[in-house]
This record gives sequence, C-alpha cells and structure tokens, in this order.
Amino acid sequence: MTTTGPAGLEPHRDPVRPRPAASITLVVDGVPVPGVDGQTVAGVLMGAGRLTWRTTRHGRPRGVFCGIGVCHDCLVTVNGLPDVRACQRRAADGDTISTEEQA
Ligand code: FES
Repeated sequence: MTTTGPAGLEPHRDPVRPRPAASITLVVDGVPVPGVDGQTVAGVLMGAGRLTWRTTRHGRPRGVFCGIGVCHDCLVTVNGLPDVRACQRRAADGDTISTEEQA
C-alpha cells in the first residue's frame, strides 16, 4: 500500500510537503557549525548566533547590513579566498570560513 500526501502524490514527490533540506557543516574559525543546504554563509553564521564578524577601523561591529551584496559589510574568507560577501555566497558542506574576528 502506498501512502499519499495532501496532493495525492507519494510523499517524496509531493510539492506541498517537500523533503527536508540536507544538513551541511561549515568550519567557522576552526569550529564546526551546522547549516542547511541552500543557506548563504551569512545565514549559517547568523543561525549559529553570530550577528557580527568584523569591525570597522573605528572598532564598530559589522555583519549583514544590506543582505543583497551592495554594502560589503559581511566580508569573510571562504576556503582561503578573501573578501567574499557572506550574504551572497551559498554555503557548501565542508566550506572553511575565516572571519576577521579570528585574525
Ligand atoms: S550584507 Fe551587504 S554585501 Fe553582504
């Protein structure tokens, strides 16, 4: 017997009840941080409670400000590549993220 969802489809094909997203793990400043496939790096950081990860030359905290790739307040280093906008970079399982706060 096949169980169907609200749309009358098998659960794995039911658009009303999509499958849960796969879990991913980033390494942020040497610490494993869990996330969900499809999140941005900024989303994973914020989901882990990190609202800021760099400071201005005047010592003011910065993290996500615009969230659309314009302000460059969210810069991080991803897999050794510096100056990546965390709000625009889709997180991938195993990515290594370094923040300015670590330096
Ligand atoms: S938050 Fe503005 S560029 Fe990322």
